[in-house]
Amino acid sequence: MTGLRIALLGCGTVGTEVVRLLREQADDLAARVGVPLELAGIAVRRLDKRREGAPAELLTTDAEGLVTSDDVDIVVEVIGGIEPARGLLLAAMKAGKSVVTANKALLAEDGATLFGAAREYGTDIYYEASVAGAIPLLRPLRESLVGDHVHRVMGIVNGTTNYILDQMDTSGAGFAEALNEAQALGYAEADPTADVEGFDAAAKAAILAQLAFHTRVTAADVHREGIADVTSADIASAKAMNCVVKLLAICERVPSAEHRSGRGVSVRVHPVMIPRSHPLASVREAYNAVFVEAESAGSLMFYGAGAGGAPTASAVLGDLVAVARNRVYGTRGPAESTYAELPVLPMADT
Ligand code: NDP
Ligand code: HSE
Repeated sequence: MTGLRIALLGCGTVGTEVVRLLREQADDLAARVGVPLELAGIAVRRLDKRREGAPAELLTTDAEGLVTSDDVDIVVEVIGGIEPARGLLLAAMKAGKSVVTANKALLAEDGATLFGAAREYGTDIYYEASVAGAIPLLRPLRESLVGDHVHRVMGIVNGTTNYILDQMDTSGAGFAEALNEAQALGYAEADPTADVEGFDAAAKAAILAQLAFHTRVTAADVHREGIADVTSADIASAKAMNCVVKLLAICERVPSAEHRSGRGVSVRVHPVMIPRSHPLASVREAYNAVFVEAESAGSLMFYGAGAGGAPTASAVLGDLVAVARNRVYGTRGPAESTYAELPVLPMADT
């Protein structure tokens, strides 16, 4: 039985766990897909770094050569950042590979180019791991709720900042100490400024708003405030009022005179003081929780591990199986690629 050959780009917090799951669950995955999933190569920056579980003979610094190799069917990108990730994914799709990515920064900055390439080259791009770690959230928005009318998506989508705020609230930890812990636990971005200043949550909010409201939203459209200015005194004041501080992403439809639909979109990320009785107040550590409010479905809540190697790798593997099955059965995934042609609804001033 001929297997599907996988190129893994990046072998850090998430990539290491992807390798582990591919190896430990090889037989189960083969049974679920119909053919074995085999690692063809792993692109990294440095070959001399110690990496547990990653076969040394598969490591390479030639990412471009790997993604365009005839020996590869599927490319999984867990490098992060804009370049070289964008160039590598575009080269991979041009060469007919299916791609899976966890890269919210790239999707929120230039998703339209990636989705356009997937459509042009007739291939798949899946990205469930890019928002809320292990929580199945993008697929429900893209598939299950596509026939409904979503009014609002709101919640905690960044594990690092939730961990910091939670530690400051419950153990009296200082900001810097809590951030160090979040980094050591593998929750933070390579540059944790992305978490602390709200860029990561803003990128996720853009992805959520785009899927929920069927309109083009980029990170630049999102009003963003991080938690860098939240002090221990702020946490103590909130506590005195029986509240907690959480960094929330809030995406909602709003009235607008500028569009014939009468509807615009507001997407924002900022710290919010919420009563302890609210379900979001009990979201601890690096967990995420997101409420979706839709016309017919009503109110739905999604909750789970929002960051970390293993939870994120779970979402990556789910996508990997999905694109692998598409290749086996000659099908394609839902038409994200058409998002390149979505209308642009007015963004509300916030
Ligand atoms: P890491 O920084 O831990 O790992 C990045 C990996 O990419 C490293 O192995 C690094 O190589 C490699 N890399 C960097 N630049 C290049 C390059 N130019 N060519 C080849 N390889 C390169 O990041 P994470 O694993 O934490 O995150 C990866 C992606 O997953 C990001 O997009 C992140 O936003 C996303 N994500 C992360 C989550 C998490 O909880 N950590 C959760 C959800 C999504 P080397 O090892 O040699 O330095
Ligand atoms: N740095 C991100 C977070 C990783 O803390 O939520 C998960 O996307």
